[in-house]
Amino acid sequence: MNEDAHRAAVSAASLSPSDSPRPELIHAMVALRPGGLTWRRTFLGRPDQVSEARRFVRFLLQDSSCGEDAELVVSELASNALRHTSSGQAHGSFIVEVIRKTASIRISVYDCGWGRTPGFRRQQWPSADQESGRGLMTVAALASRVGCRGTQSVGHAVWAEFTLLPS
Ligand SMILES: Nc1ncnc2c1ncn2[C@@H]1O[C@H](COP(=O)(O)OP(=O)(O)O)[C@@H](O)[C@H]1O
Ligand SMILES: [Mg+2]
Repeated sequence: MNEDAHRAAVSAASLSPSDSPRPELIHAMVALRPGGLTWRRTFLGRPDQVSEARRFVRFLLQDSSCGEDAELVVSELASNALRHTSSGQAHGSFIVEVIRKTASIRISVYDCGWGRTPGFRRQQWPSADQESGRGLMTVAALASRVGCRGTQSVGHAVWAEFTLLPS
């Protein structure tokens, strides 16, 4: 999008201070930044912060077709950070990052490590009597691509990316 088109989109959006940004404005801002728009927020390592992380993602993606799935994803990834890493210990924390590009949205959760390695490679759903082991498979089923990077000692960034259909 060139600058004139961007200005037109901004003026068409005609924001008042109490409004959340309109989709046209968000798309115009995203289109101006080839690397995408990025937001990052640190949350305390407490169970009640999972719903805060959901709220953060909901706010940022309220105009997006993948908003609800992204909320579910951040909830699974944040819960894993708390349950499986030292993010959930005293003084722990986790970071949620949202990157919006024209054609994709990526949600990453950074944990504090000292857990195992996120197990995306599992091939089979756990049996009905197994209570755990569905979270990352659910994330993989909802998103277009998933992955993680990092190490057990420094922690992992676990991510899920949604491919957006052209509107
Ligand atoms: N952030 C993480 N850091 C280290 N290990 C993780 C992390 N997330 C998940 N795991 C590992 O991957 C496994 C699968 O995660 P998941 O599918 O969410 O199942 P569950 O949380 O019910 O065990 C976990 O049991 C854990 O061993
Ligand atoms: Mg889990």
